[in-house]
Amino acid sequence: MSIKRAQEVLSLARSVVVFTGAGVSAESGVPTFRGGGGTAVWRGMDAMQLSSARMVGEDLKLVWEWFEYRRDLLARCEPNLAHLAIAAWESRFPEFTLVTQNVDGLHDKAGSSAAIELHGNLWRGRCLECSSRVPLDMTPHVEIPPACRDCGGNLRPDVVLFGEYLPAESFEKARESAGRADVCLVVGTSALVYPAAEIPLVCAQRGATVIEVNPEPSGIGGSRSIMIAGRAGDVLPLL
Ligand code: OAD
Repeated sequence: MSIKRAQEVLSLARSVVVFTGAGVSAESGVPTFRGGGGTAVWRGMDAMQLSSARMVGEDLKLVWEWFEYRRDLLARCEPNLAHLAIAAWESRFPEFTLVTQNVDGLHDKAGSSAAIELHGNLWRGRCLECSSRVPLDMTPHVEIPPACRDCGGNLRPDVVLFGEYLPAESFEKARESAGRADVCLVVGTSALVYPAAEIPLVCAQRGATVIEVNPEPSGIGGSRSIMIAGRAGDVLPLL
């Protein structure tokens, strides 16, 4: 029933925002942050402590080792049917914006050309000296921390760490799109982490219909939203 309603709403939509979280990659084998997955602790250290701005200052080499471990796991993951469906939607609506909290790069790999990555990307480094951004390929680094090609400074992972702000430009771009949306599709997020979780709220405040796809919907869209309790890879191809 809710799938049919969502299909109707989408068939009339002109401006669509898709907002994704870790759950969209769950069926690709990427563990979510909340709700298990076994990667909350690495070498006896808490993942939140490792992925923190403080740790970059204290032990950049350790941060890189942790990110190399994560990149190695991700290198074996492929986009699933949900990523592919979202990529195909780019050409389906007059205006379409994909906003993701994920750093795994799987939307890119599925063919989405312009994802707004609010929390950065694990496949990119950023120079601590000159701020240059450098794509990182699949192979592990021989030397860590790797050096910047432009100035020789140390690179850090280009992701938002605990204790850091979101990139202002990306967030503003996402907010602007949310302010124009008539439909917002929220996929696979607990919608607990702010300010990223403001994006569906901005859509709802503007009067957009919020469609949520999650085996355990967060209810972020409020009582007027369409909640579809199901897995992203099962539901999105149907929409
Ligand atoms: P969470 O781990 O908080 O939430 C994952 C959500 O995905 C949960 O609501 C699950 O019910 C849902 N889920 C699980 N399997 C699913 C499936 N197959 N299909 C659809 N949904 C499924 O992840 P996020 O909301 O993305 O920030 O977490 C937000 C931010 O918290 C992350 O970006 C990260 C973390 O702090 C940074 O790293 C800066």
